[in-house]
Parts: sequence; structure tokens; C-alpha cells
Amino acid sequence: MVSQAFEEISPADFFYRNRDIAGFTNPSRAIFAAMRELVENSLDAAELGGFPPDIYVRLTYGGEGGPESKVYKLRVQDNGSGITSRHIPSAFGQVLFGSKYKLKQARGTFGLGGTMAVLYGQITTHKPAYVVSSTGSTKVYTYRIMIDIQRNRPIILERRVLINKDRWHGTIVEFSLEGDYFRAMPKILEYLKQTALVNPYANITFVDPKGRLYRFTRVTTKMPVPPKETLPHPYGVDVETVNRLTQFTQHRNMLDFLKAHFHRVSERVAHSFLEFAGIAKTKNPKKLDPNEVVTLVRMMKRYEGFRSPSASCLSPLGQDLLLAGILKELKPEFVSVCQRKPSTYAGHPFIIEAAIAYGGEIPKRGDFLLYRFANRIPLLYDEASDVSYNVVKSMNWRRYRVSQDMPIAILVHVCSTKIPYKTVGKEFIADRPEVKKEVLNGIREASRKLQRFLSKRAHVEREKRRLSVFSQYLPKIARFSTELAGKEKEPDIRQLLESVNKLGRTETRR
Ligand SMILES: Nc1ncnc2c1ncn2[C@@H]1O[C@H](COP(=O)(O)OP(=O)(O)OP(=O)(O)O)[C@@H](O)[C@H]1O
Ligand SMILES: [Mg+2]
Repeated sequence: MVSQAFEEISPADFFYRNRDIAGFTNPSRAIFAAMRELVENSLDAAELGGFPPDIYVRLTYGGEGGPESKVYKLRVQDNGSGITSRHIPSAFGQVLFGSKYKLKQARGTFGLGGTMAVLYGQITTHKPAYVVSSTGSTKVYTYRIMIDIQRNRPIILERRVLINKDRWHGTIVEFSLEGDYFRAMPKILEYLKQTALVNPYANITFVDPKGRLYRFTRVTTKMPVPPKETLPHPYGVDVETVNRLTQFTQHRNMLDFLKAHFHRVSERVAHSFLEFAGIAKTKNPKKLDPNEVVTLVRMMKRYEGFRSPSASCLSPLGQDLLLAGILKELKPEFVSVCQRKPSTYAGHPFIIEAAIAYGGEIPKRGDFLLYRFANRIPLLYDEASDVSYNVVKSMNWRRYRVSQDMPIAILVHVCSTKIPYKTVGKEFIADRPEVKKEVLNGIREASRKLQRFLSKRAHVEREKRRLSVFSQYLPKIARFSTELAGKEKEPDIRQLLESVNKLGRTETRR
């Protein structure tokens, strides 16, 4: 008989062993992932507090051997909401711990990113992380922590409380990690540029290990309307969710239960649904047996009378901010943006924003530049696995008078309470049919405007050529016709030429 040894591992241990799925694959990718996770946490925290984000990122050589040692010190500082003192250690020292498991749009999803960055730092340098935070109260808290990976718990090495004279609010995280900045540099700079594009109300400063300063300055202080927390939609729930709800509800009958715990279920809809499902309105939800819960969920999926989810839990960028971001970072000649109406997949609401930019400083590459964003996060890796890439590839571009060798950038922003990421590294979005359809519609809508612009411009070009020939011969025609008519004075053609030139100068930029 073969005897096997069984053991249980903690979530931190799992991600330590499988750090590739969280994006910490090699030294270059790890330094990129660490920075982006912290920047995203900072942006979330600033928006949560309603403050236009001010984010400072500094990367310095941190090892004894200088640049050769490949050890860096990463510091990210924000002016966000801060973290309450008792939650600071777990926020950075416990995997799968977070405040964003709610039905509300946020960059953070898994309760993993920030801690994973600290964990990676610890396993490559064995140094503690330093965290400073204040919610704007009279105190600032500083912690020096490490992670007990086997138990998935923070180890507090030092805790200090300081007086917060200026009522500063925000968070500073600093830790050492092994990495390869110079290989990661193009991606890091691209990431910051695209973050600035899709967060045009943020100030982001980055100082790299050579002391070079990169500044991305906000062009507006107007921020998107913050999202509201929502309830689960009946089309999106499964047996487990409904079971949990029946256990913790305070309501004693099915009618109130449905109204209180599900999104957009009114008295009328609840009545009609219960009738459809054959469930008594007076039934106590706590007394549903397992089979009844399964039937309830099945009937929810079949019932067609539920209203589609509202978009109040979403916070899209909006056409103005999107336009401002694109003009600022890409400097195109023409841009068209479009925001689609809210839609849903598996009960999760989502909104697609799409844009297409042409000319100006956009390079000609032989294929389109594709910018992908999810809840205002740029997605830079694994492009070919993403839904937007597949949509762009599948489109018939000739219909829009567009070819691959034109300087064109396409931008797709998906916002949802639950982005269908394919991995926890948040790099690409799954091909959900509903999402795919909306991405396609969004790009088509934006492309139609580009098509109109290109046709108009081609028409103007043609006219310009025609008129330049005209203006070349007009003086001669005037002279000969004067002679033919036996007149002395030529007609004044200045006015005609002026209008020809004016047409030639017509500005066609949006
Ligand atoms: N700069 C910050 N300001 C305020 N709170 C923060 C900050 N960084 C992290 N937190 C808190 O710590 C929690 C854990 O962060 P972490 O990045 O590990 O997970 P997340 O952001 O919730 O999800 P994801 O894994 O998708 O990033 C967050 O949910 C948030 O509550
Ligand atoms: Mg995070």
C-alpha cells in the first residue's frame, strides 16, 4: 500500500507557491506588478475619499551591491482615505483580506494585489514592509510588518502612533523587492501614461532609480460620479448566495425577503415572481429546505419580469473625461468617443466605453494600437487573449475606410461590478458573449464617426486639389477673356481666389 502525506496550506502559501497567476512571474514582471497593485490601491483610496488623486511613486536601488544587486526599494504614497489602524496589518499582511468584496465598481477585486506585492518583497529580500496611514484623524499610524506565510497572518514588528498636526490623510507603503527595472521600464512608463489617460483627474509622479522624474499632471479636477453599492441581481445569483441570504435575513416572509436583498425587485415584481415560482408569499425564508432553495434559484433564471440592473453601482469615465484623457496623452488629430448604455452579463451590470483616435502623434505601426482598460486600470499584458483584441481582429475595417497602416488607436474601457478577468493578475478579459457584443457595438459606433471624418477629409482634399488647379488658371482666363472682349480692365478675381483658399484651409479636426 502506498501511503500519502496530506497537508493543508494557507491562502498566502498558495499564492506564494503559485505567484505566476497573480502576475509575479519574473523579476521584470514582478516589479511592474508590485507597482501597479499599489498605484491601483492608491487610486481607489483617493476616489473613495472623493479626493482628486495625488500619487507619488519612487523606486530606488535598495541593495548593498547598488544597481548590480537587483534589489529595489519601492515607495508609493497617496492622499486617499487612509486605513483604520486596526486594519493596516491585515490589509498588507493577509492574503484575501480587503474592503472591496462589495457589489460596487472598484479597481481592487480579490483582496490580494497589495499583499502579494509585499509578500513578493519578503520572499526575495526578507525585509519587512513599512506602512504609514491616517484617515485624517488626530493620529498617524506607522507599522513595520512581515507576513507569516504559512498561517496567512501579519507579523507586527513595530507599531508607532504619531500626532497628525495637519490632519493628513493617505497611505504610504514602502518595501524592498528583487526586480529588473530596466527590463520593466517600457511597460512601467506605458502603464503610467495609460493610467493618466484614463484617470485625467489624477496627478502621478514617478521617480525612477536613476533619479529621472516623470510627471503626469491632471487636466481636470472633475471626477466621475462615485459608484453606489448594490444588491445581487436575481439573474446573477446561485444557490450558495441565496442560501447565505436566507440564513442571515431578518425578514420573516418571502415577499419582504426578495424586496430587501435583491436588486430592483419591487413589491409588484416580487408578487408576480412568487406566483410564477409557486412559492407562498408568507413562507419564512429561513424555513426553505435545500430543494426549495434550488427551485427558487432556477425559477429566478426563468422568470422574465425582473428589471435589468441599474448602472448606479458603476462609475464610467464619461465622454468628456475620456476625450480629455485621450487628447492629453495621445494628442491625435481626430478622436471620437462613445459610451454604450448599461448592459448585463450573468446578472452583473457593465458599461462599455469605446474610442477611436486618428493621426496627430499616434504612430503608424502596421496594425492598430489597442488600449484596453477595466475599471480605469490599463491592461498591458496578454493582449491576444482579450475580448477587445478578438473583436478588433474580427471587424471588417474596409467598411470604415480604414486600413491597418493608418495611425489609429482604439480604446476600450469595460466597467463592471465584476470584470470577467481570466486570471487574478488582471491582465485580460474573458469573451463573455454579452460583453463581446457591446465591445463590438462600441467600436462600431466610434468607427462610424471616424469614417465620416475620413470621408469629409478626402472630399476636402479633392476639392483643394481641384481648386488649386482652378486658382492657377483663373488669372490667365481673366486676362484672355478681357482681351477677347476687347476690354481694357481685367475683372477683380481676388475675391474668388480668397474663397478658394478659404475652402482649402477648412479645419476638419473634431
Ligand atoms: N493605499 C491604500 N489606501 C487605503 N486602503 C488601502 C490601500 N491599499 C490597500 N488598502 C486596503 O487594503 C485592502 C487590501 O488591498 P489589496 O490590494 O491586497 O486587495 P484589493 O485592492 O481589495 O483587491 P485586488 O487584489 O484586486 O487588488 C484593500 O481592499 C483596501 O481596503
Ligand atoms: Mg488592490
